[in-house]
Amino acid sequence: MILVCGGAGYIGSHCVEILKKEGYDVVVFDNLVYGHEEFTEDVEFFKGDLADISDIRRCFSKYNIDCVMHFSAYCYVGESVKSPEKYYYNNVVGTLNLLKVMIENDVLDFIFSSTCATYGEPEFMPMDEKHRQSPVNPYGNSKLMIEMVLKDYERAYGLRSIIFRYFNAAGASLSGRSGEWHEPETHLIPLILDVAAGKRESITIFGEDYDTKDGTCVRDYVHVLDIAKAHVLGFELLKKEKSSNHFNLGSEEGFSVLEIIRMCENITGNKIDIKKGNRREGDPPVLIADSTKAKNVLGWQKEYSDIETVLSSAWDWHKRLQEKYK
Ligand SMILES: NC(=O)c1ccc[n+]([C@@H]2O[C@H](COP(=O)([O-])OP(=O)(O)OC[C@H]3O[C@@H](n4cnc5c(N)ncnc54)[C@H](O)[C@@H]3O)[C@@H](O)[C@H]2O)c1
Repeated sequence: MILVCGGAGYIGSHCVEILKKEGYDVVVFDNLVYGHEEFTEDVEFFKGDLADISDIRRCFSKYNIDCVMHFSAYCYVGESVKSPEKYYYNNVVGTLNLLKVMIENDVLDFIFSSTCATYGEPEFMPMDEKHRQSPVNPYGNSKLMIEMVLKDYERAYGLRSIIFRYFNAAGASLSGRSGEWHEPETHLIPLILDVAAGKRESITIFGEDYDTKDGTCVRDYVHVLDIAKAHVLGFELLKKEKSSNHFNLGSEEGFSVLEIIRMCENITGNKIDIKKGNRREGDPPVLIADSTKAKNVLGWQKEYSDIETVLSSAWDWHKRLQEKYK
């Protein structure tokens, strides 16, 4: 059975959907601090907190777990700067608790959600896995710390891991099972769609004088279902090779903030009002992944990460969410 920690959250819930489709037995572990119980209705669910090691132990006693996919974390960069302790406790100590119980139970296969934020200021573009890792905020630090822990744990305890460094996860399940539903929301696409849906007055563009095609920041949006598919391939690789590896997951294409806004106007048929804001500290002008390694080693093929599918699936989910839950 695969334990999906954080499976009630955005990316974890999509991973659960794909794993179930592929015939895997899955149990979700989540404290629902940011997750949604609605995303666990058709799957085995254990409510627990990684901060409480006895919750994790009870979960491992109850289920016959042979691999852990770990999506649980706090992910707000700005908040991590203001409250680093909160981030180090949840993202680092929580993960150490989880790894401890895995080792106690001789469960030695681990898949970890890391981030392009571990790279810090870009030194070349597109960024591959050889790029220097030098995060510029506590969120990125907390993820890099776990990457380092995993190297040491493999050597000492034989714990094998696949580390995925995601760029911007976006889009939603085509089945309508789940989608992006963060509260508070900080990601660009759902914020723009809020404006399109009349829930928010305008979208603020932070900086229009970058050295990019139209002056606004350029990002790489990878469909959440493609991320989920990579996890299945990562699991198969772990079982076959019994050794650790790490991969970037990105669409390898860059779109500016302004381009995304214009495309959202086309898809939704609604005008999106824009406000001008100042640049945000630590926002690089361009972030684009080189995912060649995932393609070559895992055989990862992106199926959904063209920008039209990303935006239209996000919009379908957004409308559904408004009708059903809000
Ligand atoms: N969303 C992105 O674009 C993106 C990009 C790079 C990396 N990541 C990483 O991917 C992972 C998933 O991101 P997401 O966007 O799905 O976030 P999310 O907040 O939607 O999901 C995280 C889940 O973990 C749960 N959780 C948090 N702390 C917990 C704890 N102590 N015990 C049990 N459950 C806990 C939350 O309730 C939530 O359901 C995170 O680790 C994040 O750092 C996300």
